[in-house]
Amino acid sequence: MRVPLNKTLLRGALALGTLLASKQTSTYEEDYRPQVHFSPRKHWTNDPNGLVYFHREYHLFYQFNPFGNEWGHMSWGHAVSTDLLHWTELQVAIPEENGEMAFTGSVVVDRDNTSGFCAPKQDCLVAIYTGYHDSPEGARQTQNLAYSVDDGRTWTRYAGNPVIDLHLADFRDPSVSWDEKQNHWLMAVSLPTQHKVRFYSSSNLKQWTQLSDFGPAGDVQGAWECPDLLRIPADRGKENMWALKIGLNPGSPQGGSGEQYFLGEFDGTRFVASAEPGSHGWTNYGKDDYCAISFNALPRNEKPVLIGWMNNWQYAAKLPTSPWRGQMSIPRRLCFVRDQSGFALKQEPVIALIRAGETDVSAPPGGHRESHVLETPFELDLQFRSSPNQVFGVRLLSDERHWTEIGFDQPKGQFYMDRTKSGATVSQDFPASTTAPLVARRAFDLKLIVDRCSIEAYAQNGTIAMSNLVFPPSQNNKIAFFSSSGKPVPVTGKIWQLRPIWK
Ligand code: FRU
Repeated sequence: MRVPLNKTLLRGALALGTLLASKQTSTYEEDYRPQVHFSPRKHWTNDPNGLVYFHREYHLFYQFNPFGNEWGHMSWGHAVSTDLLHWTELQVAIPEENGEMAFTGSVVVDRDNTSGFCAPKQDCLVAIYTGYHDSPEGARQTQNLAYSVDDGRTWTRYAGNPVIDLHLADFRDPSVSWDEKQNHWLMAVSLPTQHKVRFYSSSNLKQWTQLSDFGPAGDVQGAWECPDLLRIPADRGKENMWALKIGLNPGSPQGGSGEQYFLGEFDGTRFVASAEPGSHGWTNYGKDDYCAISFNALPRNEKPVLIGWMNNWQYAAKLPTSPWRGQMSIPRRLCFVRDQSGFALKQEPVIALIRAGETDVSAPPGGHRESHVLETPFELDLQFRSSPNQVFGVRLLSDERHWTEIGFDQPKGQFYMDRTKSGATVSQDFPASTTAPLVARRAFDLKLIVDRCSIEAYAQNGTIAMSNLVFPPSQNNKIAFFSSSGKPVPVTGKIWQLRPIWK
């Protein structure tokens, strides 16, 4: 049936009206809005804070500016989830107050009311955060407490704050957990300009006793921030060991902010790094993963879960997103491997729950043949079988001039992600090809999680993690396998569409 012109116009107008209305009311649909990564509805976020599992909820607190999408008025934003992927944003947990900003810190479950903050015979949540004061006499950073007796919905600052004050301008990011062996609380906190992590213990979270210092060690070019001490299991068997993770800003090998880890032993007082090959490395070899911390109070026998801020202080303020700026990484389960090549930290993203529409990849592709077209978000899980000295991998093309290349360069001994042609340039520090050392005798497997403005890569059995932001001109990706010499490198694997977490 032919529709008369005026009706066509009317329909067009109605459609436009619906579109405008949906633009106004809809959230999480803006250009570049992450679909499988957490980002706040609006405004600025940086580090994750106070990750804790309590009464069947995962809590994600985060450095948040409630007033705009640049850094400032630092407060703790708050979101909860029952599965680590679908998040509900709640009201601000710990706001800036009386000139005190709430910087990074952690939350513990006080099961036995050691702090005296909980209601009688109840457990409750206690936050240990850095209070930041700026005054004409200079800046001051101290460690402070706040508590919640209603599952993290409302928070009260402790009247006796601060609980540790060294009269320093740089003293921050306490990571507190319960030390089962010693039967007390343990804090790792950073002395950023001294390149030290200081350990303290406490029986009640209020009085703290200094135990020891770790550092300077490893990379010391920038400030040390966001320490985290974790007990991690072996990927197979019953063994455990300790990992100390430390943020470095600037001066990371990828440029700007990054994070190094040390594997070693902690005897209840002192952390000693192992000297075995692979005991010192980078938790992430991309440019965009910083201040990752682990969940407190996870159910017994669960591997530690880490979430990081997917960003870099070099250009965090310039990201072309609005009305929010900043996002978190996919949560990753941690363990360590010990194989013929030595130790390594291994990371496995928590993602399976939102997989849909599985496709097999099995062709032995050659040259630059394209095999699939996908819309973000999606996941690729690939196993390559390469002959020696090849450069090979995969390109994600959003048009003829824009792509990101992820590959294994055997002659150079590197795994890499090249985003120099990925799309918007953001800043002079943004275009980059990030690299990680390839380890001999580990397989050429590759997992990619591709969202609207980021690519997370995991290679060589999860012992290399590489996360980078990208701002491509389109969300459709042609997947093209390539190899140097044009000789096909056989690849098998799977592709999944991922279901957006906001629907
Ligand atoms: C790291 C950091 C922390 C600090 C917070 C302030 O990204 O500088 O050391 O607590 O951000 O927002």
